[in-house]
Amino acid sequence: MKLAIVGTGYVGLVTGACLAEVGNDVLCVDVDPAKIEILNSGGIPIYEPGLEKMVADNKAAGRLRFTTDPEEGVAHGLFQFIAVGTPPDEDGSADLKHVLAVARSIGQHMAEYRIVIDKSTVPVGTADRVAEEIRAAQAERHEAVEFDVVSNPEFLKEGAAIEDFMRPDRIIVGTDNPRTGELLRLLYAPFNRSHDRLFLMDVRSAELTKYAANAMLATKISFMNELSNIADAVGADIEKVRVGIGSDPRIGFQFIYPGCGYGGSCFPKDVRALEQTALRLGYSPQLLSAVEAVNLDQKNVLFRKLKSYFAGELADRTIALWGLAFKPNTDDMREASSRKLMEALWGAGASIRAFDPVAAKEAQRIYGNRPDLYLAESAADALRGSDVLVIVTEWSQFRSPDFDLIRKTLKHPAVFDGRNMFDPQMVSRFGLSYFSIGRPDRHPEIA
Ligand SMILES: NC(=O)c1ccc[n+]([C@@H]2O[C@H](COP(=O)([O-])OP(=O)(O)OC[C@H]3O[C@@H](n4cnc5c(N)ncnc54)[C@H](O)[C@@H]3O)[C@@H](O)[C@H]2O)c1
Repeated sequence: MKLAIVGTGYVGLVTGACLAEVGNDVLCVDVDPAKIEILNSGGIPIYEPGLEKMVADNKAAGRLRFTTDPEEGVAHGLFQFIAVGTPPDEDGSADLKHVLAVARSIGQHMAEYRIVIDKSTVPVGTADRVAEEIRAAQAERHEAVEFDVVSNPEFLKEGAAIEDFMRPDRIIVGTDNPRTGELLRLLYAPFNRSHDRLFLMDVRSAELTKYAANAMLATKISFMNELSNIADAVGADIEKVRVGIGSDPRIGFQFIYPGCGYGGSCFPKDVRALEQTALRLGYSPQLLSAVEAVNLDQKNVLFRKLKSYFAGELADRTIALWGLAFKPNTDDMREASSRKLMEALWGAGASIRAFDPVAAKEAQRIYGNRPDLYLAESAADALRGSDVLVIVTEWSQFRSPDFDLIRKTLKHPAVFDGRNMFDPQMVSRFGLSYFSIGRPDRHPEIA
């Protein structure tokens, strides 16, 4: 099948590569000429495991191409995926300007029937707005070409995006036209083989399903973070509590890890956008507001612990920071907890030596060159000349560090772990103080 993907970011590029991988003829469109130039010259603009090879293979096979020309995209095929960003507006609602710009451009250029597929995460009612925008653009050129707008939200996780796309838990297709539903079923057949995972529903339910999924996951995290603060206050160990509740299959072990807050391009903005949708319709979503408030507060938890360790005196301290990305296996730093922490530390006069296996370039792009940020070559390099170590992202290469080296290198033998990566007793045996989330602080054991 021939299809265009408009927006070649984390979602669009993975969608395009995976749809090409199963034999489709895919044209990816983006307004960013630098991005298209990188892709056309054999590079890749983001870090996502396995993606570079998949893009190269499908390009070489002639099934995947890249352009900045929207007209070429519209002419290319029956399916027109919209996978552009939907960043938060000032009040937290989803900003639809990119989605509607693509809709307008489809309306301006389409010469025959097209299926327009909203893959971006968009508030309920957006499919109607996309249809209006296409109709308005057609009206301007005195045309009325038939089209359908489908909601097909994406559930992939950065860091495991290819696996998620190739073997999805579910494929949600929202359409009021049964024929369009069947065409989408055909397109997704290669990803839907072992058992039927494609759920056809009305457009609004499909749009809401995406927000419901992210809000549920964010709720689980904020719930555990709130519990971790209670555990701190009562002197309990949240990790024991986690195992104790996770063993109940109604609760389960997934997504109940306490930490220093969730980030990324999805949970924070999607929880806020759903809250705004509800508020606009006169419903006050108390749970969603609390999920967001708990998360914002949790992003300060490491800063508070550091401040207390240094008795409020953070000026001129140097903090080693491991992990900049919002989670492992991605270079994405959108709403990352590391950013909140670094900005708070800079505000208090501290400097940072940060190491991340892949996100240093992104940090450089966001913060530029500044004297209070050194982007280290390695985890050990970040420790040099630092007072203490803070871990913000649970990259697997941090799981078994050289604790002797950490103790010998730091000016103060203390580790602040925002992801509860280690057994506290084990860390303290290496002569280090250990501060984690929702567990009692540990101090070096006297030999
Ligand atoms: N990143 C994720 O893990 C993830 C997962 C599921 C859903 N989503 C949703 O998918 C959507 C895209 O997210 P993303 O992370 O891929 O965003 P992104 O910022 O990585 O990519 C968006 C791309 O769209 C391009 N763009 C903007 N306006 C355009 C236009 N008019 N024409 C062509 N291209 C245009 C940008 O240049 C950019 O390359 C969002 O709605 C997001 O909420 C993201």
